[in-house]
Amino acid sequence: MFKRTSARNWSFQFLLICLVLLSCAEDSKAGLTSTFIRQLWPSTDIPLDNEVFAVPTGHNAPQQVHITQGDYDGKAVIVSWVTTEIPGPSKVQYGKSEHQYQWSAEGTITNYTFYQYKSGYIHHCLVDGLEYDTKYYYKIGMGDSARKFWFHTPPKIDPDAAHTFGIIGDLGQTYNSLSTLEHYMQSKGQAVLFLGDLSYADRYTENDIGIRWDSWGRFAERSAAYQPWIWTVGNHEIDYMPELGEVGPFKNFIHRYATPFLASKSSDPVWYAIRRASAHIIVLSSYSPFVTYTPQWRWLREELTKVDREKTPWLIVLMHVPLYNSNEAHFMEGESMRVAFESWFVQYKVDFILSGHVHAYERSHRISNIHYNVSAGDAYPVPDKSAPVYLTVGDGGNQEGLASTFMDPQPEYSAFREASYGHSTLEIMNRTHALYHWHRNDDNNKVTADSVMFLNQYSATNCIGEKKKT
Ligand SMILES: [Fe+2]
Repeated sequence: MFKRTSARNWSFQFLLICLVLLSCAEDSKAGLTSTFIRQLWPSTDIPLDNEVFAVPTGHNAPQQVHITQGDYDGKAVIVSWVTTEIPGPSKVQYGKSEHQYQWSAEGTITNYTFYQYKSGYIHHCLVDGLEYDTKYYYKIGMGDSARKFWFHTPPKIDPDAAHTFGIIGDLGQTYNSLSTLEHYMQSKGQAVLFLGDLSYADRYTENDIGIRWDSWGRFAERSAAYQPWIWTVGNHEIDYMPELGEVGPFKNFIHRYATPFLASKSSDPVWYAIRRASAHIIVLSSYSPFVTYTPQWRWLREELTKVDREKTPWLIVLMHVPLYNSNEAHFMEGESMRVAFESWFVQYKVDFILSGHVHAYERSHRISNIHYNVSAGDAYPVPDKSAPVYLTVGDGGNQEGLASTFMDPQPEYSAFREASYGHSTLEIMNRTHALYHWHRNDDNNKVTADSVMFLNQYSATNCIGEKKKT
C-alpha cells in the first residue's frame, strides 16, 4: 500500500515537473506543429430522429434547458427553456434540497418567426439572490411533465478562489460534436466559456434553420442545464438571410440565449462582462461594430478600467475570431479587431484571449504587434511579457470539418497547433497559477495533447522572477 502511494506521489511529482518545464517553455520561440492524424469521421450532422435530440416525454414538457450566469458576480443564474404546445408557467422552483423547492422565481416568455418557422415559447427566468458555493436544485414545467435539474453557484469573488472553466468553440451537432461534449462532461469543468458558432443551423434552408436551432438546444442541454455556459456569438449566429426576408442580425440567438449584459452596463446582449470566482471575463462580438467611438469600443474601454486584479487577478477575453492564427483558414480575419484592441490588451495585461472560428487548435507565445503604424515600425509580432496568450479552440466538431492546412513554416508566434477536434479546460488554482489542458478527441478517448501551467500576468510577476533565478 505504501509503495503504491509512493509510486503515485512520484508520478504526480513527475507530472508537476513536466508541467513546470512546459510553463517555463512558454516564452520559448520553438513552435510545435503536431503530426497527429486522427481517424476521419464524416463531419455530418446527427439525424434528427437520433436519441441525442430526443424530445422529453409529457405534455408540453420543457426542453432545450440551459443556464447562464445572471449577474455580474455569480449570485444569479438565468434559466431558459422552450415549451412547444402552450406557453405554460414560466416559473422556476428551486431550493437547496432535491426534495424541497421552497423558493420560486417568475420569468418571461417570448417567441418569434424565422421565415415561415414559428418558434416554441421561449422562457427566460432570472434566479437571483443565491448564496455562493452552493448546490441548488431547480424544477420547471407542470405536473407529470415537470423536469428537475441542479447547478452549483461559484465561490465568492476572491483572488484565490479556485474554479475550472471548460472552453468549447464551433460545436455544431455532428458525431464529432457529441464526442467533444461527452469528453468535456467527463472533466471537472464548472462553467463553459463558449467561443461562438453554436448550432450551424444557418447551413440549412428555410424552416430547417429554426428546427436545427431547436435540435441543438436539446443536444446541449445535457451539460448546459447543469452549469452556466457563457455565450459568445460567431458568424453562424448572424443569420442574415435577405432571401428569406430575415435581415436582423443574431435573431435566433438573441431570442434563445440570454446574457447578463445589463449587469455590466452593456447596451447589447452580444458583448458584456462577468466576474466569477477569481476571474474577470470580458465577452466581445467580432461581428458588431468595434472601431473607435462605437458602443462596443466605448464599453470595452470603460469595462477595462473596472477590472480589479486585487479581487479578480485572472483577466480573460472571449471573441469568436482569433487575432493571431497561423492556419490558412480565416487567416487575418481578426486583423481589424487586433488593430483596434491589442494595445489595450497589452496595457491591461490580459491573461488569455480565447477564440474559435478556425476549426483547429492553436496556442501562441506571449507576443504583440502594437508598434506597427502603417508608415513605420515593426510589422511583425515580437515577444512581449505583458501580452496575452492567444488560444484558438474552434475545434468543437461542426459539419464544416477540420481546418487542416497550417501555414508553413510555423510562424514564431505560434507555440503549438494541431488540427483535431477537442476542447480545453482552464483550472484556476489560486491568484498565481492556472493549469491549462487541451484535450484532443482521439476518437473514443479523451487525450491531453497540450498542457501548460500558466502564471498570472498580474499576481505572479514576482513568481516569474523567482523561477528565472533557479
Ligand atoms: Fe466561425
